[in-house]
Amino acid sequence: MKICCIGAGYVGGPTMAVIALKCPSVEVAVVDISVKRIAAWNSNRLPIYEPGLYDIVAQCRGRNLSFSTDVEKHVSEADIVFISVNTPTKTFGLGAGKAADLTYWESAARTIADVSTSDKIVVEKSTVPVRTGESLKKILTHNSKGINYQILSNPEFLAEGTAVQDLLRPDRVLIGGLETPEGKKAAQVLKDVYAHWVPEDRIITINLWSAELSKLVANAYLAQRISSINSISALCEATGADVSEVARAVGKDSRVGPMYLNASFGFGGSAFIKDILSLVYICKCNGLTDVAEYWKQVLKINDFQKSRFVKRVISSMFNTVVGKKIAVLGFAFKKDTGDTRDTPVIDVCKGLLDDKATLSIYDPQVSEEQLIYDLTMQKLDWDRSSSNQLLILSPTEMKQVHTARNAYEAAEGAHGVCILNDWDEFRELDYRKIYEAMCKPAFIFDGRNVVDPEKLRAIGFIVYSIGKPLDAWVKSIAVAV
Ligand code: NAI
Repeated sequence: MKICCIGAGYVGGPTMAVIALKCPSVEVAVVDISVKRIAAWNSNRLPIYEPGLYDIVAQCRGRNLSFSTDVEKHVSEADIVFISVNTPTKTFGLGAGKAADLTYWESAARTIADVSTSDKIVVEKSTVPVRTGESLKKILTHNSKGINYQILSNPEFLAEGTAVQDLLRPDRVLIGGLETPEGKKAAQVLKDVYAHWVPEDRIITINLWSAELSKLVANAYLAQRISSINSISALCEATGADVSEVARAVGKDSRVGPMYLNASFGFGGSAFIKDILSLVYICKCNGLTDVAEYWKQVLKINDFQKSRFVKRVISSMFNTVVGKKIAVLGFAFKKDTGDTRDTPVIDVCKGLLDDKATLSIYDPQVSEEQLIYDLTMQKLDWDRSSSNQLLILSPTEMKQVHTARNAYEAAEGAHGVCILNDWDEFRELDYRKIYEAMCKPAFIFDGRNVVDPEKLRAIGFIVYSIGKPLDAWVKSIAVAV
């Protein structure tokens, strides 16, 4: 059997590497239009960082796993074609800032239609709006070459940073297909691939539209949990409760569960924001305005939380950060990844730079080149129209941004340190050494509850941790939130 995956990104690369590892008899080709990305997959420095991924790729590459820019050849030879291209939020035109941009998806679908000469199972791996499978069928059969295409939805639930573990031991594999005999047969073929390593009771076969929608809903639920606990973190700060204790107490209820209850300064990443926007847009297109408004609140609370954090930082430092160096620890949207797409750190940086702070940014996996690219590129403000796109940083503001080679260098001479993602190394830093190298009073603003505030207070820091009882200094300053 030959499998081809269109899109060698965060999903296509790891997913296919694990299929190749677990199914030695299957030939897996991952194809992409990006020459740079494919070259990196074929090198010793993969284009994405995921713990454990390199070993798997090194084991399978050259055996039954290949990476290529020859999209047409591999698509035409394949029995199963996965579409795993990016489906970002539209940035212009109809549905800008809301709808999923299906340009890349459509181009992949058209390639399959153009080059296929034999029957194929086409699998939607990308996250797409519900009923995209219908459009896919139309594109595939538009040139009526008499080829039989079976369409399946097989959304991916891996989380960046734990992608390999998630793929090796998934909670579930979802396969959506049509209820026809051919549809059921195609679903069984894909099921047999996963059955090489996933227990049968974890492979769920459902209706195509349910599978498409389930992915959007799963992400919306996860994001909703974060926004829920984040909203409560604000109340904890106002009342003296501790959000970690509240989360533990609530999460012990087996009906709630403990996951995704860590308060933070806000969520980001390539999926949650765009998938909720897509869900909201689909609801609106179906006339369900109240449902759309309900899910929109998840993003509103997220924006509230990010801006609340920036206000705490600025107000604690005498309401002025002009010319003050602030160390930013962490730039990727979470630990164990170098992915900076939609990272909430950008919003914090922007907020601090608006108040004329000078930033020294350090992240173990984000290069200076990437950081500058992210900070200078245009970003869509989801709650406004496309005409209100924001330029993230002006050239003048960019002069206020520096990168550091490590956390100590970032904090040297700084007035404040903002911890903005949860890399393990930020837990283990020598905070006494950092304190001694900083201007006094020395502030720490922990946006991910990574450090123990009491230990840092004992060193002499003024500490703000999301949702934790405020120390006297921070408490004495009224913040307009
Ligand atoms: P990505 O941006 O890392 O990779 C997509 C790749 O597709 C790019 O390398 C791009 O060059 C390539 N591509 C685009 N159009 C193409 C075409 N016509 N022919 C060949 N290659 C083409 O995206 P990522 O993160 O892998 O996401 C892919 C899909 O999976 C998205 O729909 C996303 O929402 C979904 N997803 C992402 C997860 C994540 O953690 N990143 C998790 C679960 C789902």
